[in-house]
Amino acid sequence: MKCTVCKEPAIIDIRRHNAKFCPEHFLKLCRDQTAKAIKEFSLLEPGDRVLVAVSGGKDSLGLWDLLLDLGYRADGLYLGLGIGEYSDQSGDYARAFARERGLNLTEIDIRDDYGFDIPSGAKAARRVPCSACGLTKRHLFDKAAIDGGYDAVATGHNLDDEAAVLFGNVLHWHPEYLARQHPLLPARNGFPKKVKPLVRLGEREMAAYCLLRGIDYIVEECPMADGNRHLRYKAVLNELELNTPGAKADFFFGFLARGAEHFALPEGDDSLRQCDRCGAPSSGEVCAFCRLTERATASTQSTNATESAPVVFTGRDRRPPQ
Ligand code: AMP
Ligand code: FES
Ligand code: ZN
Ligand code: ZN
Repeated sequence: MKCTVCKEPAIIDIRRHNAKFCPEHFLKLCRDQTAKAIKEFSLLEPGDRVLVAVSGGKDSLGLWDLLLDLGYRADGLYLGLGIGEYSDQSGDYARAFARERGLNLTEIDIRDDYGFDIPSGAKAARRVPCSACGLTKRHLFDKAAIDGGYDAVATGHNLDDEAAVLFGNVLHWHPEYLARQHPLLPARNGFPKKVKPLVRLGEREMAAYCLLRGIDYIVEECPMADGNRHLRYKAVLNELELNTPGAKADFFFGFLARGAEHFALPEGDDSLRQCDRCGAPSSGEVCAFCRLTERATASTQSTNATESAPVVFTGRDRRPPQ
């Protein structure tokens, strides 16, 4: 197998590009695809200060490396979610990456700062862990970016993630989620800009990228995600991709180019106020995160947790992630 670019021995075959790459040209491909996504979707401006949300996994650590390589000023943010050994290990990988490269990593541990962890907090609030976790992550990413004066929060969502989410949103027809599925969510209403610069790279490519760049990452998936829908959609799309290379990319980029506009929401239909407790943008008096925190910690303080009523989520809470 030879590199399509230079004819030296190739280490990876990317069927959707109908090309094979040697280490040097594969790394170049990863940088080029990241730069292309940034340009195509106007994700970042040169010189932007970026807060990279790092989970200790291949995507987010690879993204941090790529953004630095492309010349962005990028700091990291790691959230300790208290998911047992998984969180302990993922934090170790994020810290080691930052330490070895002399990078700036902010750490927030939700047990220390908010008094709960995802497994017990979700249970107390009667939410599925992934939903409590997603809400917590979004809230704390936003807060850290605003507090730190960053121009954008970058997450490591890759093409496989985005195609799987799109698949779920189409399968169950969630027009309000489809309206917001884009690599760029501009800053608005007190929320920071959010970007996904890895949408042109797949999971396999990110694993190969980290291997070649000597980036150690946590391989295990979150134990709470076992058997979740997202993983099942990924499996279906992988099966499809096997026989139709490029299907995932066609599905996702075709949606952005020709589908998304049909789901766009009218401008200015979401008037937000400030949460009475934390000041974050919120549709009600108290934001969903503060209500989650209240429920999650009430159970640790009360002797009879089962008496606590479930958190009441209004229709507006079901707004798609900001
Ligand atoms: P997930 O929600 O686990 O699919 O992760 C999506 C993205 O969110 C990752 O690529 C990271 O950018 C970010 N992320 C996930 N977990 C954490 C964490 N514990 N701390 C900081 N960022 C995270
Ligand atoms: Fe959030 Fe697993 S990382 S529930
Ligand atoms: Zn080559
Ligand atoms: Zn709040």
